[in-house]
Amino acid sequence: MRRERARGPEYPYSSSIGHIARVVLPLLVVVAAAAIPAPANAATPTEADALLAWKASLQDDAAALSGWRRATPVCNWRSVDCDAAGRVSKLRLRGVGLGGGLEKLDFAALPALAELDLNGNSFAGGIPASISLDLGNNGFNGSIPPQFGDPSSLVELRLYNNNLVGAIPRQLSRLPKIVHFDLGANYLTDHDFGKFSPMPTVTFMSLYLNSFNGSFPEFVLRSSNITYVDLSQNTLFGPIPDTLQEKLPKLRYLNLSVNAFSGRIAVSLARMKNLQDPRIATNFLTGGVPEFLGSMRQLRVLELGDN
Ligand SMILES: *[C@@H]1O[C@H](CO)[C@@H](O)[C@H](O)[C@H]1NC(C)=O
Ligand SMILES: *[C@@H]1O[C@H](CO)[C@@H](O)[C@H](O)[C@H]1NC(C)=O
Ligand SMILES: *[C@@H]1O[C@H](CO)[C@@H](O)[C@H](O)[C@H]1NC(C)=O
Ligand SMILES: *[C@@H]1O[C@H](CO)[C@@H](O)[C@H](O)[C@H]1NC(C)=O
Repeated sequence: MRRERARGPEYPYSSSIGHIARVVLPLLVVVAAAAIPAPANAATPTEADALLAWKASLQDDAAALSGWRRATPVCNWRSVDCDAAGRVSKLRLRGVGLGGGLEKLDFAALPALAELDLNGNSFAGGIPASISLDLGNNGFNGSIPPQFGDPSSLVELRLYNNNLVGAIPRQLSRLPKIVHFDLGANYLTDHDFGKFSPMPTVTFMSLYLNSFNGSFPEFVLRSSNITYVDLSQNTLFGPIPDTLQEKLPKLRYLNLSVNAFSGRIAVSLARMKNLQDPRIATNFLTGGVPEFLGSMRQLRVLELGDN
């Protein structure tokens, strides 16, 4: 059963962040399964076989897959898209009430599968190591397999609002094309962010509502293209770096609320021209609300309560 977790809106600021989402979404996700060779001469299952076997393992209370029948060509099945060569390239099963797992989906039989959108169903169990997908809003549990960081063309990683535990494999910080990195609302722990690489391609970074307990992660500061950072609801401690302005010049959205940050509110926040919505409530910040924050004309929202 999936645990209900408090979570914020995915894109609280439709004007700025929503725009990025629209640009990025069509590029969604990747294949690694393509690298798995089909055994020569063996009776290789067809794509329809693979999908029907998976269907048989799923709970489908809303009959979302009722049109998946052998009598109909697979490319005509609902929620299935094929490429020009007639191979299955996309499965879009967002919020259709499915339950079950991915164990019975034979990715090797679907070599052209480039997009798998299962957001908002009731999937559970382990995440397969060989493919990358939008698995947000499910009940996946266990840890994230390190091989998950291999698919080199991954643009978006959305694993938010699941039950994932353990550390974020540092390989994930080396995804060369990643733009949207969202691991929010899980049970991840990590005190070894020091081994992470900078992520220069990332613009959206959310690690909110996990169990991270170190200082402000250095790799985030070194990911200079970031516009959105949500580290809220962890137990991060130490100062809010005064180098934010210099290191993250494009930052528009910053949420550090509900952590254990201490010290004075960094004066450099006031010099951040693009920053619209700093949220730093519920920390141990001292020194009161600095006057300079009142001089930030671009501010639309400021949460400072409970310090
Ligand atoms: C993950 O979920 C599966 C199926 O729901 C369950 O059998 C297993 O015990 C869970 N594992 C963990 C680590 O919670
Ligand atoms: C930074 O982001 C912009 C768009 O937001 C993109 O055009 C640019 O390529 C990115 N830089 C890197 C190093 O990825
Ligand atoms: C941080 O979390 C780790 C693992 O969960 C734990 O071993 C460590 O003691 C924690 N450190 C602090 C300072 O709370
Ligand atoms: C900032 O984070 C807090 C804690 O996660 C959350 O309650 C609040 O909604 C966030 N603010 C926005 C605008 O997302």
